[in-house]
Amino acid sequence: MAIPQHTIDQILDRTDIVDVIGQFVKLKKTGRTYSGCCPFHQEKSPSFHVYRDKQYFHCFGCQANGNAIRFLMDIGSRNFVEVMKDLSSQTGVELPKDNTDSNKLKYKRETAKPKVVAAPKPQNNQTAPNNVKNLEHIPNDTAQVEHFDPFAEFQASEQDFSNDPFASFEQMPMSDVQQDGNLYDLLENIAQFYERQLPKSQSAQQYFKQRGLTAETIAYWRLGFAPEDWQHLEKAFPQDIEGLKLLGLIRTSDNGREFDLLRDRVIFPIRDSKGRVVGFGGRALNDEIKPKYINSPDSEVFHKNQLLYGLYEGRKEKAQDWLMVEGYMDVIALQQYGLHGAVATLGTASNTDHISILFKQNNRITIAFDGDAAGQKAARRTLEIALPLLNDGRELKFFVLPNDHDPDSLIRREGIENFRRLLEQAPLMSDFIFAYLTRNQDVSTPEGKSQVMGELKNLTELLPKHGSFRYLLQQFFREKLGFNRKWQPQVNNDASLSFSTKIDAEEYVIAILLNHPYLYIHFEPLRALIAEDQLLFKILNILNVIFEDLPDDPELSIYYVLGACANYHHELHNILLHANVSDYTSSPEQADKLAADLSTKLQLQSLKHKIKSKQFKSIAEMKNLKLQIYEIDKKRSMTLIEE
Ligand code: UTP
Ligand code: MN
Repeated sequence: MAIPQHTIDQILDRTDIVDVIGQFVKLKKTGRTYSGCCPFHQEKSPSFHVYRDKQYFHCFGCQANGNAIRFLMDIGSRNFVEVMKDLSSQTGVELPKDNTDSNKLKYKRETAKPKVVAAPKPQNNQTAPNNVKNLEHIPNDTAQVEHFDPFAEFQASEQDFSNDPFASFEQMPMSDVQQDGNLYDLLENIAQFYERQLPKSQSAQQYFKQRGLTAETIAYWRLGFAPEDWQHLEKAFPQDIEGLKLLGLIRTSDNGREFDLLRDRVIFPIRDSKGRVVGFGGRALNDEIKPKYINSPDSEVFHKNQLLYGLYEGRKEKAQDWLMVEGYMDVIALQQYGLHGAVATLGTASNTDHISILFKQNNRITIAFDGDAAGQKAARRTLEIALPLLNDGRELKFFVLPNDHDPDSLIRREGIENFRRLLEQAPLMSDFIFAYLTRNQDVSTPEGKSQVMGELKNLTELLPKHGSFRYLLQQFFREKLGFNRKWQPQVNNDASLSFSTKIDAEEYVIAILLNHPYLYIHFEPLRALIAEDQLLFKILNILNVIFEDLPDDPELSIYYVLGACANYHHELHNILLHANVSDYTSSPEQADKLAADLSTKLQLQSLKHKIKSKQFKSIAEMKNLKLQIYEIDKKRSMTLIEE
């Protein structure tokens, strides 16, 4: 059974790894993580960790690791499908029924009029299943001749379909036995049919030319043309009427007459992530014709909500930077100019699935918007969809286009270099949100400020619960709005998080934690690595205990921490006097990343120091230290945990 990725994701979304593993392993909560004795190897002290925020487990002893599905497979020696069946019944997310998936791709082909005009290109003849299968149903006298292909002469050349070259075949006696066709094959054949129509239409070729597309680009995107004839598909694929209907490419008029959905339009075939044609978009040749675009409707193989135009192509080009744009032509123009990785939805608003798909390509994605009111509205909507997906490390940028431009028109006017520059200057989400929420507010007044903070709260509530970003964003806004802090840490306002020369790393981390307690998430792993008599160890321990209860409000949370650390008041006061911690007015995204990087750096330092100063009792212990170094390095490059 093939389980589609979206079903797997849905199931994982409704499964909590801590609950799953908790049924097999006694887990103890230590701050953000849970730990216990590894079920996959013998051990006395726990080196098995479960990370709720990442939905991931890892054993530092035996290196077992993975997500909830992996755990269940390994612990019960079960295969993927068995585990998914269990999880499906637990979460209520249904799996595709056995076989139905491939059955749904089938339709009944008619053999009465075997017009083979729609056969794949000559070089594909070997693999043209529909036509090869036809042989079985040809009356005995011909079918038994080995390799006899009654249609061969028609497959060899590109025909003009307007005059029917097969007319003589209609008299040939044929069995009317029906057989199965496959929707993917049919779609591929239709795509090739549309491609072949393009050279025959002056106006369609002229259209692409006027929009600046090269012949190479047209071939790359397999662009085509759907002729004006009301029933061109019926004529080209007379055996596949049922398939055409399943694909929504033929419609029935009120008086029962069938006609083609896409007529006299240039055609954009839409490929799924595997490169298979699954649907079509058709654009009118002039802007007076409404609607401008018609897309084929959803079908068994075409799910617009889970597809992005350009994804297959971008991945093929190994795109790094992904940009969500609005239209097919934007994707195509950018690709022609060498900007790979632009994707567009298929005439629908972007949804959670679309954004998740993009975040799987890269942790940093950019979304382009028109500068007009409609664009702003779309931006807000996208923000609401994207915020819940912003786990630590994920970054969203907003590329607001100059008025009256889309990426296609902008790149043509500005040229590739200017376009790239504008794209690079796209604001980070925090800046974008600030600009957006303050656009109609007078932030010099207390009323304006509180209005903005109120709206911000609505947005931050959408962010994942376990992450420092909520807090950082609030802090960022407070500072931008110039709120007076009642409690001012004695620090300079250096705009970067760099090592101060005056204090050591340990003190620096302490200063960061006192100013920004939510960054504890990043420093938690240090607890296991540093000496217990260090002040940082003590502060981390206190934070570990109080972390879950930290108030959401940044200012209150600082008081809370100071209260909890009252025993070390004197030392802390000194550190705060000398520490050089920024107020993060630059960007919360940066603060988050810098804290994570700093923590990683310190973890590595501490591990390396242990090895160098021989702080281990056995070879095995040393190996373990080295493994941990390896793991941290690996994690650094790991952006996404996927099955
Ligand atoms: P736009 O109307 O913004 O046009 O549609 P565009 O992409 O700039 O198109 P060109 O440049 O005039 O050719 C953006 C996207 O919205 C969908 C299509 O997917 C299109 O690419 N759309 C638009 C429709 O589905 N139907 C329409 O009538 C218009
Ligand atoms: Mn356009």
